[in-house]
Amino acid sequence: MNPQDPAVHRPDQRDRPRRLRSSAAVRALATETRVHPGDLVLPLFVKEGLTEPRPIASMPGVVQHSRASLRAAVEAAADAGLAGVMLFGVPLVRDAVGSGATDPAGILNLAIADAVDAARGRLVVMADLCLDEFTDHGHCGVLRTAPDGTVVVDNDATLERYTALALVQARAGAHLVGLSGMMDHQTAAVRDALDAAGFADVLVLAYAAKYASAFYGPFREAVESTLEGDRRAYQMDPANRREAAREVAADVAEGADVVMVKPALAYLDVLADVAATSPVPVAAYQVSGEYAMIEAAAANGWIDRRRAIEESVLSIRRAGADLILTYWATELAGWLTEGT
Ligand code: PBG
Repeated sequence: MNPQDPAVHRPDQRDRPRRLRSSAAVRALATETRVHPGDLVLPLFVKEGLTEPRPIASMPGVVQHSRASLRAAVEAAADAGLAGVMLFGVPLVRDAVGSGATDPAGILNLAIADAVDAARGRLVVMADLCLDEFTDHGHCGVLRTAPDGTVVVDNDATLERYTALALVQARAGAHLVGLSGMMDHQTAAVRDALDAAGFADVLVLAYAAKYASAFYGPFREAVESTLEGDRRAYQMDPANRREAAREVAADVAEGADVVMVKPALAYLDVLADVAATSPVPVAAYQVSGEYAMIEAAAANGWIDRRRAIEESVLSIRRAGADLILTYWATELAGWLTEGT
């Protein structure tokens, strides 16, 4: 069929969406969403006592770092142009209150100083501010026994631990603390403690809308979690969309510099809501289970690994995330800058 043929040029055919898809150059012109290395944050695990990095079986390609290999990963992340790294510590010894988290010689605090040194100001060094990696029971806070005999996470006693953690992490040089524990008023408590101690420039990223998700499964292996049961008494119910607005509003009012939605892929509706209204930058965390699903399917030859990674991260960006935490950050940044 000749497109010049007047017979096929009826007025109702002027609308031709395919014209904007007709070549790679035209598609590049028409694209609405781009991902840039500067949108990406790489989560990193560092384990006390390791001399060599150790693979995490459920997260192929991700390791528990030694202090030396962590430095190399931070340098590679900075070379790749990433926005930042988010550090998680895996201690050798755990106790009821997570003492290792507030020990200046604890693994996470040593790693923060290492990362700041390796980054040389080229990226933002972020630290996970939570207790679950450091408690023997694996919960994100300290426990108490309620009058009816049940054991619960004590919100306000946990805030005291979080403020102590914030100060130790800030002294170690953290540029940003990531509050992932989902305790009420944690942002206000940490902001006030940082300000009172002269750390007004340390940023607070609030995991504002963090859902009680099955997609954190591989992370539990990565940090050797001892948790029994679940976190449903503090993390959000996956059924709830409106509640995210309440959590975000509270964190913003309490002084959060960045708010986060987590997980990402199963919560893109929540992310889009938050991105539409948040007065501060919005982050989204493509979590361990999201990573593992794509890696497992790709390893079986069932999906195209690179395209699936690119499409999944693009979808998170399209939904409105300014920052994306993803275990593929460095590799993806390399693809994004190929040929430039
Ligand atoms: C808690 C924390 C978790 C993750 C990040 N911070 C685990 C949890 O809440 O159970 C999960 C991240 C991932 O799955 O990639 N400190």
